[in-house]
Amino acid sequence: MRIAMIGTGYVGLVSGACFADFGHHVTCVDKDAGKIAALRHGKIPIFEPDLDRLVADNMRSGRLDFATELQEPVAAADAVFIAVGTPSRRGDGHADLTYVYAAAREIAAALTGFTVVVTKSTVPVGTGDEVERIIRETRPDADVAVVSNPEFLREGAAIRDFKHPDRIVVGLSDERARKVMTEIYRPLYLNQAPMLYTKRRTAELIKYAANGFLAMKVTFINEIADLCEKVGADVQEVARGIGLDNRIGGKFLHAGPGFGGSCFPKDTLALIKTGQDHAAPLRIIETVAAVNDQRKRAMARKVAAALGGNLRGRTIAVLGLTFKPNTDDLREAPSIPLITALKDMGAKVRAYDPAGMTNASAEIPDVQFADGPYACVESADALVIVTEWEQFRALDLEAIKRAMKQPVVIDLRNVYRPDEMAQLGFVYDSVGRGDMAE
Ligand SMILES: NC(=O)c1ccc[n+]([C@@H]2O[C@H](COP(=O)([O-])OP(=O)(O)OC[C@H]3O[C@@H](n4cnc5c(N)ncnc54)[C@H](O)[C@@H]3O)[C@@H](O)[C@H]2O)c1
Repeated sequence: MRIAMIGTGYVGLVSGACFADFGHHVTCVDKDAGKIAALRHGKIPIFEPDLDRLVADNMRSGRLDFATELQEPVAAADAVFIAVGTPSRRGDGHADLTYVYAAAREIAAALTGFTVVVTKSTVPVGTGDEVERIIRETRPDADVAVVSNPEFLREGAAIRDFKHPDRIVVGLSDERARKVMTEIYRPLYLNQAPMLYTKRRTAELIKYAANGFLAMKVTFINEIADLCEKVGADVQEVARGIGLDNRIGGKFLHAGPGFGGSCFPKDTLALIKTGQDHAAPLRIIETVAAVNDQRKRAMARKVAAALGGNLRGRTIAVLGLTFKPNTDDLREAPSIPLITALKDMGAKVRAYDPAGMTNASAEIPDVQFADGPYACVESADALVIVTEWEQFRALDLEAIKRAMKQPVVIDLRNVYRPDEMAQLGFVYDSVGRGDMAE
């Protein structure tokens, strides 16, 4: 199959490289000429484990190439995937579909022969109808089927997720398109990945319902963590105790500083708006978004409390800036409102992240960046662990303690054990295990 991937961000680049690895011919297109030039020279614009090797291998084999203009690749394609961004629209939280519709218009003009246009971007219910309307309006003669195929990959484990998905969701009503989609995903189908064919609108909603549910799970355990702190229970044991129940499942039950990232915050907001627009308000998701919003600044108050309530003139070392480990993505990362709140309270912030500092220096002003974890904590009044990068799990705690002005650690990812930290002489606070260090 010949595939054109429109938008070469996290999803477009990973999907494009994986499709090429399946044996298809893929051209990844992006408007960002700098990104395409870098990719042609083997430079990967994002941090994603193993992606450099996958891209290089498939470029070498001639199955993966890059372009800034979509005309030729679209004209040659059996399937054109739209993988452009769908950020929150400023002001109202709806998904901003400007990029999707602009891509649809451009794709329409370039279509030749029967082509399947596949929306991979996360888009609200009914967007496929509008994409189809735009294409038919622009090119009434085009032989096209518009399909929804939402993506469920997680940054940091994107290639594995793409190649070993829990399921592949495809929303369509055209039999020819079904054949093309089956052929594209055939290698996964052979690996027994369930392929779920639905109506297009259903597929679009599945993506938002999945993200809404996962965001709800995270928020649920965060609130249970707050209660644990008040009643002297351990949230990790509660999570394990409920997670072993198959009806609940143990994943996404890690208490922390609130969810962030490029998907959950914007997707919960967009789902709320869709519900409101259709007079079917999703009150649970509305509450999830509100609770999560409050949480990030509340974490700064936790830091202040550990230092006796006053942060003015104090130096706070922050380890981890990205919204999760193994990515350089800082979009909606909890570290940003947390650091802002620390600065609002008069603290000086020094930070270290293994991959996120380039993005962070553009995003977070007035923060000093350190070369590594030990330089970061030098003479600090408190250390806050915000992202659970692997390298923060085995810090030399004696060296950390020696370097700090005072040994205060606020572990927002529950990386360390309260009893061990107490033994080492740290004043230690974490999430949902508040009483255990005493
Ligand atoms: N990032 C994730 O983990 C993830 C996971 C699942 C789904 N999604 C969804 O996938 C979509 C893409 O997300 P992303 O994180 O890859 O976004 P991104 O911002 O990393 O990449 C989007 C790319 O599209 C390009 N682009 C925009 N308009 C274009 C056009 N007309 N022609 C060519 N290129 C164009 C941009 O230059 C950019 O490089 C979003 O809807 C997102 O919600 C993301």
